[in-house]
Amino acid sequence: VPENQPHRTCYHFQPPHNWMNDPNGPMYYKGVYHFFYQHNPFGPTFGKIMVWAHSVSYDLINWIHLKHALEPSEPYDINGCYSGSVTILSEEKPAILYTGNDNNKNQVQNLAMPKNLSDPYLREWVKHSQNPVMVAPSGIEMDNFRDPTTAWKGNDGKWRVIIGAKNGDDGKVILCHSEDFVHWILDPIPFYAIDNYGMCECPDFFPVSICGTNGVDTSVQNSSIRHVLKLSYQNEQQEHYFLGKYQPDQENFMTDTKFTGTSLDLKLDYGAFYASKTFFDYAKKRRILWGWVQESDTTKDDIEKGWAGLQSIPRQVWLDKSGKQLMQWPIEEVEKLRDKQVSILGKKLIGGSTLQVSGITASQVDVEVLFELPELESAEWLDGNEVDPELLCSEEYASKSGTIGPFGLLALASEDLTEKTAIFFRIYRTPNGYKCLMCSDESRSSLRQDLNKRTYATTFDIDPNIKTISLRSLIDRSIIESFGEEGRVCLTNRVYPSLAIDKDAHLYVFNNGTQTVFISKLNAWSMKHAEFGYEEKIENIN
Ligand code: FRU
Repeated sequence: VPENQPHRTCYHFQPPHNWMNDPNGPMYYKGVYHFFYQHNPFGPTFGKIMVWAHSVSYDLINWIHLKHALEPSEPYDINGCYSGSVTILSEEKPAILYTGNDNNKNQVQNLAMPKNLSDPYLREWVKHSQNPVMVAPSGIEMDNFRDPTTAWKGNDGKWRVIIGAKNGDDGKVILCHSEDFVHWILDPIPFYAIDNYGMCECPDFFPVSICGTNGVDTSVQNSSIRHVLKLSYQNEQQEHYFLGKYQPDQENFMTDTKFTGTSLDLKLDYGAFYASKTFFDYAKKRRILWGWVQESDTTKDDIEKGWAGLQSIPRQVWLDKSGKQLMQWPIEEVEKLRDKQVSILGKKLIGGSTLQVSGITASQVDVEVLFELPELESAEWLDGNEVDPELLCSEEYASKSGTIGPFGLLALASEDLTEKTAIFFRIYRTPNGYKCLMCSDESRSSLRQDLNKRTYATTFDIDPNIKTISLRSLIDRSIIESFGEEGRVCLTNRVYPSLAIDKDAHLYVFNNGTQTVFISKLNAWSMKHAEFGYEEKIENIN
């Protein structure tokens, strides 16, 4: 990677160089966190020879890069080792199930096991002699059958996995079961199907507890859990999920809500976040979610920079008290990187005001703010049930005045505010109660014209008695991950400012509503660099 790169992140996971996409097989195993990912070792674009790169960590924040775990080598994966997952089998033996892009460019599922279980880093993986262990069933396109999940074990002792698939425009999820993890039977009835929406990539299927924030192991089945099915819609590049009831005896998943193709659908993140995957961290009894954050920069720039793609900060996920949606929050370990802190307490933000948060390194910061709201009755009226949040937030919306809001943060902003990414709320009265719009607007994030500058948004219902609303943003040079209402809504942005870089980046709080809002408290911390190293170098330091 060339020196002096103001957009290269300092505490998000990135490979040392070249291209990265999906997170693969994250796991906690005997004191070590393992992270694999889709990687092109030969360049900063998606490549012909995709490998499973491998890194390990003791805290999910500082990482040691190891040699690749899987590289194309056999007829069944010679055109790429694609995404997959790890399952910890009996006697604590981890197994990778991954998709091979075979010598005919068909997608098949393969198994790999660690060579030496006493190696704490599990550096070497051996491909199973009976690979491929699954091929596409009839009714599924042979080159669109990929991305096996972590397996779960039923009461009958059999393992199950689901796999993403497609036939024509119809997306499908195929359920497979096995007694020994080598011989698999594919269920002819899809576990989930969605017509006319294209391929369902990278499914994830996991239980969540109905009370509390603790996670549960993937095989747990009892009355105090619900299940989540997550699908990555390839055409949209967005992460849809469904809550529901898994009935193991019928191998059936009943979703609570149907897919509508509208803004009512649940997404893990309404921004740039894709191909995500969870794992159960049994050390801390939590379920952790990783997601790939794509570039908004041009391919030409990716090639000049020498890298493309990064991972979100791992997020803890759990079921909201309402039972109707998931909640997400950056893992607590990221707080170890918090350095110099500034606070603002009890400050009035009258309509049209902008307040700078100074004294921190605004290009790499963790900021949490709690806004105190005026009486909601004064909120603007919004007619119609179904609104298009992204349309509501269209260009420059943050700078146009409303009543309660827009208010929020201006991140990675230049001093003259010609560049800024606005992350904000705006409150509406609707026929069905109060709604809050949350938006992250990249349209003014850079003076550069050649970038893909998106406006991401969603709305959520709020209680008429709500007094405060919270926002946290993790800002790291070219990424902003924002969490509204304590993790109820997540929006991730990838931005490439041309002025607001390094010391010339600033952070502001703003209110463009006619109603005053208060900053009841704001804390912002400059963030230290996470450590990324190769094994030899790290061992020398110790
Ligand atoms: C999702 C995806 C997967 C596939 C992998 C290949 O981003 O297309 O479906 O396994 O990337 O790198």
